[in-house]
Amino acid sequence: MTANPTSEELAGRVAVVTGAASGIGAATARVLAERGAKVALLARRADRLEAVAAQITEAGGTALVVPADVTDEQSMAAAAERIAPLGTVDLVVTGAGNMLLSPFADGRTEDWDRTISTNLTGVVRTIHVFEPQLAAAAQAGGAADVVNLSSIGATAVAPSFALYCATKAAVSHLSRNLRTEFGPRGIRVTNLEPGVVDTELMDHVDDAPSKQWLQGLIESITVLSDRDIAELIAYTVALPKHINLSQVVVLPTQQA
Ligand SMILES: NC(=O)c1ccc[n+]([C@@H]2O[C@H](COP(=O)([O-])OP(=O)(O)OC[C@H]3O[C@@H](n4cnc5c(N)ncnc54)[C@H](OP(=O)(O)O)[C@@H]3O)[C@@H](O)[C@H]2O)c1
Repeated sequence: MTANPTSEELAGRVAVVTGAASGIGAATARVLAERGAKVALLARRADRLEAVAAQITEAGGTALVVPADVTDEQSMAAAAERIAPLGTVDLVVTGAGNMLLSPFADGRTEDWDRTISTNLTGVVRTIHVFEPQLAAAAQAGGAADVVNLSSIGATAVAPSFALYCATKAAVSHLSRNLRTEFGPRGIRVTNLEPGVVDTELMDHVDDAPSKQWLQGLIESITVLSDRDIAELIAYTVALPKHINLSQVVVLPTQQA
């Protein structure tokens, strides 16, 4: 993405990546570490985080495994304490999320609660717990970034996507509103809206028609990779600190 990315590009930065156990979060953690950032890896599955951390350290990077649940305020506060030895957090990527699809009339209320608590409340809690450190980093004259993983679903509509798309629309508007408070304080907010990316996200869909529709889409086009999104995030946060790529929509070329 960058013309000549270097291993020093993000040297000195301290990053927190939620959802780092798989997919976009794991790829982002790897790429940020390759570019020199120290990276705290957050998700619930410790074994998966350990595997990602091992890849990072074998490649010469710095990674800290911090099992945490973004829906749980205490868990996130404890995570922030565990990350403290890495230094002041100046880069937060909110990659934790789920996509539980079903027709609204099925009334899968537990799925709806999980969707809202992970995709929206989880993003809010994550930003809340690290905001003081982001502010301190900006105050000290450095770059400070929040990168929110929204989705093209923030503006798209489709049957069975109501709750997922509602949370993504909320994250996109949260990002826009936060910019009005964070921007003047030197904290960039980037809202990223990807189209289809090949990750585990779809594996949790158990509604047969939704799964079939998604599989058909994935098989009919060349979708994005988690690394594509990670490179885009690394490019965005490595820009000079007065440049805020505030809204990024990235689609597979063939996705309508
Ligand atoms: N894949 C796509 O096509 C696509 C497109 C647009 C946007 N996105 C968004 O990108 C983000 C990342 O998704 P992905 O595609 O990389 O899917 P993924 O591989 O399923 O990654 C989701 C990550 O979130 C973590 N997670 C889920 N619930 C959590 C919780 N309560 N606390 C902490 N971590 C939690 C999971 O790890 P644990 O289960 O171990 O906690 C996992 O590492 C999501 O917000 C998704 O909506 C994806």
